[in-house]
Amino acid sequence: MDWGMKNRFARVVKPEDGRAVMLAVDHGYFLGPTSGLEEPRKTIEPLLPYADSIMLTRGVLRTSVDPNSHTPVVLRVSGGTSILKELSNEDITVSIEDAVRLNVSAMALSIFVGSEFEKQTLVSLAKLVDEGEKCGIPVLAVTAVGKEMARDARYLSLSCRIAAELGAHLVKTYYCEGFEEVVESCPIPVIIAGGKKTPELEALQLAFNAVRTGAVGVDMGRNIFQSDSPVGMIRGVRAIVHEKASVDEAYKIYESAKGGKARRAAG
Ligand code: R5P
Repeated sequence: MDWGMKNRFARVVKPEDGRAVMLAVDHGYFLGPTSGLEEPRKTIEPLLPYADSIMLTRGVLRTSVDPNSHTPVVLRVSGGTSILKELSNEDITVSIEDAVRLNVSAMALSIFVGSEFEKQTLVSLAKLVDEGEKCGIPVLAVTAVGKEMARDARYLSLSCRIAAELGAHLVKTYYCEGFEEVVESCPIPVIIAGGKKTPELEALQLAFNAVRTGAVGVDMGRNIFQSDSPVGMIRGVRAIVHEKASVDEAYKIYESAKGGKARRAAG
């Protein structure tokens, strides 16, 4: 990696401990007004101080994030489909020039291994890596899963390894049983998505299990912004990822932030 690439990567995966807390708010690119993100600015603003980086589209970045913000940006640059159609039919949707103009720290693109448009998404990843290398911008490959695809270690290892082989600098996947195998067979750092909203304790346990078994962190969205205390959740997740907190300790952080909010509302 050259200096610019290393410098940008260090904004996403913190060199102090090699860990990353990425806040995912890019869901609207194929889901439209996702629950909790109807008014992106309102959701994003209170969470920014706790996120190492934020993953989002250029539309939400331009309309809903203060350009004076210091939080590094991971720009979603793939899309072109919606929940109503075949999800794997994605292309690159942002030029490298715009990514540079937006001063992003990384670019994110989904690959759909085993899906109808597998080849298109894998070739897009390779092209994006070529563009990123020219400008010193790292690429996050998102191992998206088709509706009929099992999220098991065999499949996720296949997807993560292909992403690494094609030159991605970081890969986002799902936590699964045997997650160590996924991490061990992938020569680039791995972060996990949070997935659908679950009870807070379960989401914190997921983050804990992932980092314990080799993930460098999380790229978590719904389990943060759909929580009854989004700030409490991101603080709890941060404590697990960066401060070696136990699940119980993280849950207490969440509960106390939630309690503080309830007390303020009552008072
Ligand atoms: C999904 O396509 C998006 O890239 C999300 O950023 C990703 O799934 C992480 O968000 P969540 O934690 O809500 O799964």
